[in-house]
Amino acid sequence: MAKEKYKISYMPKEVPLVETKFRRIKTKIPVPESLPIFEELEKYEARSMHGQLPVVWDRAEDFQVFDKHGNCWIDFTSTIFVANSGHANSKVVSIIKEGVEKKLLHTYTFINEYRVKFLKKLIEITPSYLEKAFLLSAGTEATECAMKLMRMYGQTIKPSKIKIISFFGNMHGRTMGAEMLKGDPKSSSWIGYKDPNINHLIFPYPWNPREFRKDIEKLQKKEGFDADDICGFMIEPYQGWAGNLFPKEYIKELFSFARKHNSLVTFDEIQGGFGRTGKLFVYQHYDVEPDLVCLGKGLSGSLPLSAVVGRKEIMDLSDVGSMSSTHSANPLCCAAGLANLEEIETKNLVEESRRKGEILHSRLNELKENFSDYISYVFGKGLLAALIITNPENHEPDASIASRICEKAMQKGLLLVHTGRESIKIGPPLTISDEALIEGIKVIKECFEEIIREN
Ligand SMILES: Cc1ncc(COP(=O)(O)O)c(C=O)c1O
Repeated sequence: MAKEKYKISYMPKEVPLVETKFRRIKTKIPVPESLPIFEELEKYEARSMHGQLPVVWDRAEDFQVFDKHGNCWIDFTSTIFVANSGHANSKVVSIIKEGVEKKLLHTYTFINEYRVKFLKKLIEITPSYLEKAFLLSAGTEATECAMKLMRMYGQTIKPSKIKIISFFGNMHGRTMGAEMLKGDPKSSSWIGYKDPNINHLIFPYPWNPREFRKDIEKLQKKEGFDADDICGFMIEPYQGWAGNLFPKEYIKELFSFARKHNSLVTFDEIQGGFGRTGKLFVYQHYDVEPDLVCLGKGLSGSLPLSAVVGRKEIMDLSDVGSMSSTHSANPLCCAAGLANLEEIETKNLVEESRRKGEILHSRLNELKENFSDYISYVFGKGLLAALIITNPENHEPDASIASRICEKAMQKGLLLVHTGRESIKIGPPLTISDEALIEGIKVIKECFEEIIREN
């Protein structure tokens, strides 16, 4: 039987000392001095931000995170897939400093030069059919903006062409439209109603293979809509919690259907973009050309910056002023974005992700063989990976074991992405050294060995 959900402890625990080239743990974990900080957070901050691994970051550099007490972790999170070009990348830091020192912190829609340089660079490095961009701050704003553009596009054809098709379990952000796209009653029940023009397909997991044609026909029948009423598809190129990509054929089918019915296709590359999976964008693994792409996280590698990029005639559908956001194109964020994209290019980080991904995935697959009772799948590509965790007794998905592994890794000087589900996600900065990558994987192995001894 699945055990009760495991809660990561905020009480300091005596743990073995660690001292390696890349990790150092020399205090109880969590650090006793952080208790008052946790208490203040509990008191002043809405609880939705809580529940993460209790490490108080003092600084982060390249692929390491440091606290104030001499502890140091290898980071396999990139602060949730942001720091692709390395934490506090020196080029990013120095251009931000330059902007701060010249006292250019905000310009709203007045033009600043960083904005122009950044946009030019962005359009230069993305495939040629992505011709224009609109800048925002949060990923969720970018997905909302793509929804708006898809519907505006549909209405240029006919008023009823406003249907958006997404996938159950996707993650597109936390604002209303984005949560509607997710199709999860638990996270969208607060909305109080369903938009009848947002419908969902079932994601083709390996344990539940699907055929696009059959599923879309079934959905049409159930919801009673015409295929020509679909203005667009919103696709998360791998499902966030599990890191698993679509079968290529599925996406090919979806595209040929979309093209036939004059529907747009948007990929939400907010998490997977900028080299994470060994290509600039995840959708490039499917050999397709989307109409719109949502970007965020690794776009700046640091400060809040998101974007929608797409074909010119779609990007220009909105009138002057009708897509806007106060912090759009903030000069410091654009400056950071510019240096970040240059670093991704000059350090060849997309190819580095592909190369290091082979090391990561071959070693994770060895772990899967060694701990086959606990690891049912290794998903992902490049420097994105997810281990899907099962309970060895009943072979059911087990979020508790996943949480225990994340907690143990933290105690040993490794930060993993704690999803709160039956997965452990891995996404180090693309700059991580081979040696540190391999050391981190060894730590995961030690965690499984301990779990086996304890169970
Ligand atoms: C695929 C995807 N889309 C959208 C978002 C939302 O981005 P943000 O948290 O910046 O609003 C996320 C965040 O995790 C994401 O992973």
